[in-house]
Amino acid sequence: MNIVILAAGQGKRMHSDLPKVLHQLAGRPLLAHVLQTASVLQCETTCVVYGHGGEQVKAATSQSGISWARQELQRGTGHAVLQAIPCLAEHLPTLILYGDVPLIRTETLLRLVAAAGDGMGILTVKLDDPTGYGRIVRQADAITRIVEEKDASTAERALKEINTGVMLVPTMQLKSWLLRLTNDNSQGEYYLTDIVAMAVAEGVRIADVQPADSWEILGVNSRADLARLERLYQTQISESLLEKGVTLSDPARLDVRGRLICGRDCVIDVNCIFEGEVVLGNRVRVGANSVLRNVQIESGTCIEPFCHIEEARIGENCRVGPYARLRPGTYLAEEVHVGNFVEVKASKIGRGTKANHLSYVGDSDVGQNVNIGAGTITCNYDGASKHRTVIEDDVFIGSNTQLIAPIRIGKGATIGAGSTITADTPEYKLTLSRSRQVTIPDWSRPLKKKN
Ligand code: UD1
Ligand code: CA
Repeated sequence: MNIVILAAGQGKRMHSDLPKVLHQLAGRPLLAHVLQTASVLQCETTCVVYGHGGEQVKAATSQSGISWARQELQRGTGHAVLQAIPCLAEHLPTLILYGDVPLIRTETLLRLVAAAGDGMGILTVKLDDPTGYGRIVRQADAITRIVEEKDASTAERALKEINTGVMLVPTMQLKSWLLRLTNDNSQGEYYLTDIVAMAVAEGVRIADVQPADSWEILGVNSRADLARLERLYQTQISESLLEKGVTLSDPARLDVRGRLICGRDCVIDVNCIFEGEVVLGNRVRVGANSVLRNVQIESGTCIEPFCHIEEARIGENCRVGPYARLRPGTYLAEEVHVGNFVEVKASKIGRGTKANHLSYVGDSDVGQNVNIGAGTITCNYDGASKHRTVIEDDVFIGSNTQLIAPIRIGKGATIGAGSTITADTPEYKLTLSRSRQVTIPDWSRPLKKKN
């Protein structure tokens, strides 16, 4: 089939400089959600009708193989679809989607396609409050036309079945119908919905399908809509995680902006945010208020509360946080402890190593069973370039130590607390750089003079 995505609307009620379809739901533009859904369907062409902020919309779309049709002036949904006609394969049916209706399920669309056959298919839904939508008018059960609310009679306004806007139409007929549309209505627009009466007049069969959940068809017109859809989307994710056996301390306080894959018996405390691709092994615990972006965590590891972890791999049975920051390129082997106010960047840390308090480990290769004392800093930057620090196995680094890179701390070495280490240190020896402690015997504190 062909897919046409209508995305030319300005979205006035968003009060934004950003085109509406580029506003984000779960960390991705609304349009990206619709394109994702479209990509799952076997389609020949996907054509996006754009207008407002067009170049920005194109630039923000990474999917390849999309054709773009510009609608200079927004003259209505029928006029919008007409702009896409040159992109469409005539012998295949055309599915019409909206760029601002992001939650529609692929299964729903597949049911619509199946029901339509070589006729027409319309996705409809019955709403307690149908205000604002086009109403489905039927005669003896068969759909005869769609009437827009602004053009509807009082009796028609009372109809509860609405047009979701999603339809499947045979393309040859679509083209001829669109060319015959007029804008002789209360809004002076070319209504796509007017093709329904034309189809009926030509004896084209019209099937109707309903979504499993009525929220699938909700559109975004305002920030309030966007916030509501975000929660609906997140609720789906929470429910599916619970179903797969993940413990969520509060399913309403979880945000997944990407993909979260969990092993068995994972526990996620409140207010955690998962971005990009996050993979948790078995029995992983993520403490409250943690943010994880593109992270892989092996089984048995515990992330204590308030951690910020990005582009990192964490081995089995580690303990991270509370208040740890793991930046891109962090790789922790098994049983590593990274404690509070420790920052790690572009570093490998070997099995059983501990950095429990207040340290910066950057551009480093740290071996196994190393102890990094509180306040240790790898001074990796000389103002122009970054240099590496190598700390071999079984090293003990005393507290408040600066390691001026490039530098290598030999296996089993001990560094005395308070040292500034500027040259490589030998294996299994104590090295320290610290001025000797002195006590001044005849010294007394100055006293304030009294007037
Ligand atoms: C439309 C339907 C209505 C349906 C409702 C569902 C028509 C005439 N009416 O009404 O029956 O109940 O959707 O939400 O089709 N767009 C363009 N170019 C235009 C006009 C619109 O690209 O010239 C796009 C918008 O960006 C939006 C979609 O088409 O994504 C729907 O437009 P909108 O103005 O929201 O249609 P409604 O009047 O709400
Ligand atoms: Ca609308």
